[in-house]
Amino acid sequence: MNLKEEIMKLKKERNAIIMAHNYQIGEVQRIADFVGDSLELARKATQVDADVIVFAGVDFMAETAAILNPDKLILIPSKIASCEMARFLTPELIKEYKKKYPDATVVLYVNSTADCKALADITCTSANAVKVVNSLDADTILFGPDSNLAHYVAERTNKKIIPVPPNGHCYVHTNLNVENVPYDGVLMVHPECPAELQAKADVIASTGGMVKYVAKSNAKKFIVATERDMVERLKMEYPDREFVPAWPYAICLGMKQINLQKIYESLKDLKYEVRVPENIANKARKAIERMLEVS
Ligand code: 13P
Ligand code: SF4
Repeated sequence: MNLKEEIMKLKKERNAIIMAHNYQIGEVQRIADFVGDSLELARKATQVDADVIVFAGVDFMAETAAILNPDKLILIPSKIASCEMARFLTPELIKEYKKKYPDATVVLYVNSTADCKALADITCTSANAVKVVNSLDADTILFGPDSNLAHYVAERTNKKIIPVPPNGHCYVHTNLNVENVPYDGVLMVHPECPAELQAKADVIASTGGMVKYVAKSNAKKFIVATERDMVERLKMEYPDREFVPAWPYAICLGMKQINLQKIYESLKDLKYEVRVPENIANKARKAIERMLEVS
């Protein structure tokens, strides 16, 4: 049996499903039961009928699935598949800002650790950040950890958005700048990109939003300003269109820790289990479920 067949066999034996983020390498996306953006994956995690979820993505995504499914076994195939952006925020920093702005509401991007989410009033993803913020009563919002997404939201709301911290960012997206991006196609830009590039975009969208945008567009060529392997997802959906990564070196190293061999080992040895302490999970779940209700 080849690796793919072994994975399929183990999946059946374990009653497992594989969920993959849009930034996974092509061969992982192709064997996954479900591929999507952070919001789609979080929502799907509440709907699956399986005993085991193998999460091909980075730590915070697997943690979100674990928080939403305390009775299921959630596995991440690599211990070092992590999101660097999440490191910009700590519970201490959130508490400091809350002291300074006691009337503000805390909105956290899901790209954050579970113990930070436990302090949030509500979470958001890049697909629903504006909707989430505009659904709130507060006039002042503490928004972290992505300052570029905070900028995107600030331009689309009347509320005061305070980025926490002021410089939180993703190294993959901040390396996409106006100088190194080609402009010979429809430019789709992720809101984690710098403000100057957002200003040049034909459309600013989450990775799932990009998939939906192409469906409605008649254009033949798209420049994709986000992680390089997003192009794999788009090619899978629309083989008749042309997709060019805005920059070939926009690679999320956390996402690239996972491959077919690691998924096979994960299913075989049931590793690595993602566990969130119950007291943290119970608080974080409230913030995530509130987001799912709003969107
Ligand atoms: P999406 O929610 O758009 O998939 O983005 C997640 C992410 O980590 C972007 O870097
Ligand atoms: Fe985190 Fe950036 Fe990777 Fe997205 S691309 S998972 S924000 S490090």
